[in-house]
Amino acid sequence: MSIDDELRWDGELTVTRHDRETDTTFVIRIDSTRLGPASGGTRAAHYPSIGHALADAGKLAGAMTLKMAVSDLPMGGGKSVIALPAPRNRIDSATWTRILDIHAENIDKLEGNYWTGPDVNTNSSDMDQLSRTTKYVFGRSVDNGGAGSSAHATALGVFEAMKATARRRGLGTLDGRTVLVQGLGAVGGDVVRLAAQAGARLLVADTDPQRLEAASLAGHTVVPAGEVLRTPCDLFAPCAMGGIIDSGAAASIPTLAVAGAANNILTDPAAGEVLRSRGVLCAPDFVANAGGAFHLVGREVLGWNEDDVVERTRGIGRTLDEVYSLSEERGITTEAAALLLARARLSPASATAAATSAAPAAAAASPV
Ligand code: NAI
Ligand code: PHE
Repeated sequence: MSIDDELRWDGELTVTRHDRETDTTFVIRIDSTRLGPASGGTRAAHYPSIGHALADAGKLAGAMTLKMAVSDLPMGGGKSVIALPAPRNRIDSATWTRILDIHAENIDKLEGNYWTGPDVNTNSSDMDQLSRTTKYVFGRSVDNGGAGSSAHATALGVFEAMKATARRRGLGTLDGRTVLVQGLGAVGGDVVRLAAQAGARLLVADTDPQRLEAASLAGHTVVPAGEVLRTPCDLFAPCAMGGIIDSGAAASIPTLAVAGAANNILTDPAAGEVLRSRGVLCAPDFVANAGGAFHLVGREVLGWNEDDVVERTRGIGRTLDEVYSLSEERGITTEAAALLLARARLSPASATAAATSAAPAAAAASPV
């Protein structure tokens, strides 16, 4: 995670800025604009070093490129990371407003080559604040003319991914199956609700005691946050942070399938190989969690209504079926199969076709 290593990142652009007054470092990374202006949310967190913040932004921006490509959306991939001097809940509101205003200035200087949206620790009202300074923002509140939170659509897509993955793994429906959800936030909370409605037995984990209490009151079984990788279940749904399954965890995690919302669930391709060798079927996250992108880009760039978003988001199950068939035919991991689908769309020939057909919407990416 050294800064030297991170500066050898081969995406299109890295922008950084430091604000001495708030001791905050701002990073925007544009991975690719091949299919349209780069887009990806703003994540605010306390990082151990600037190298870690750069690394996170780079990986997340790369995942956005793949998500947009595999989802056939006319946007590229980018991501913002705001490296805070302390955890988000210790930043007071005046400081937070200054931080958002500086971030908005940075985005505005990119003149539409990068569009942001909500991500971990940012929400629609933060997008409203950014939009006072820059127009390159998805996911403002509905009252302020935006599409609002992307979390419901993301959760619906993850639920479709869970069903498709359970079916392909030979588990049938979710009815009576044990599903472990890690992270009960905006997306995970909704995933729990949908899975419970489908008859699953829910095990839940979070680091926030209030969220756990609410889940426990709703009748779900609480698992200690440190035990998720050792708790037997039929399907594991990581809906907190990425990077939780490395090769070691992949070798022992007691589950038959993985499908969740977190970006970059696997630390590296080797972890995917280990899961495959054990017969653990893993839904590539950049396919499974694309519902939020359908919501934001669909509503604000492509002029879709809510029914269009739901229809496209439900299609995530079909895309995963395609990924799983390709993975079986070629004898490769599901992640590698999804990469093949995404890269086919990113290839120069198909990118030219996409740019031509999507030009009116994507070139300007102006909110409708
Ligand atoms: P959130 O911040 O609302 O929820 C995250 C939850 O995870 C919180 O309840 C937090 O307490 C919990 N958590 C954090 N560390 C944990 C740990 N070690 N163990 C257990 N729980 C832990 O975030 P949100 O919006 O629900 O997103 C969840 C994940 O899905 C993130 O990785 C995000 O990047 C990804 N994602 C979100 C999308 C969206 O539309 N919100 C779209 C695509 C991906
Ligand atoms: N941050 C979310 C994601 O990772 C939602 C988002 C999608 C934000 C597209 C901006 C653009 O998918």
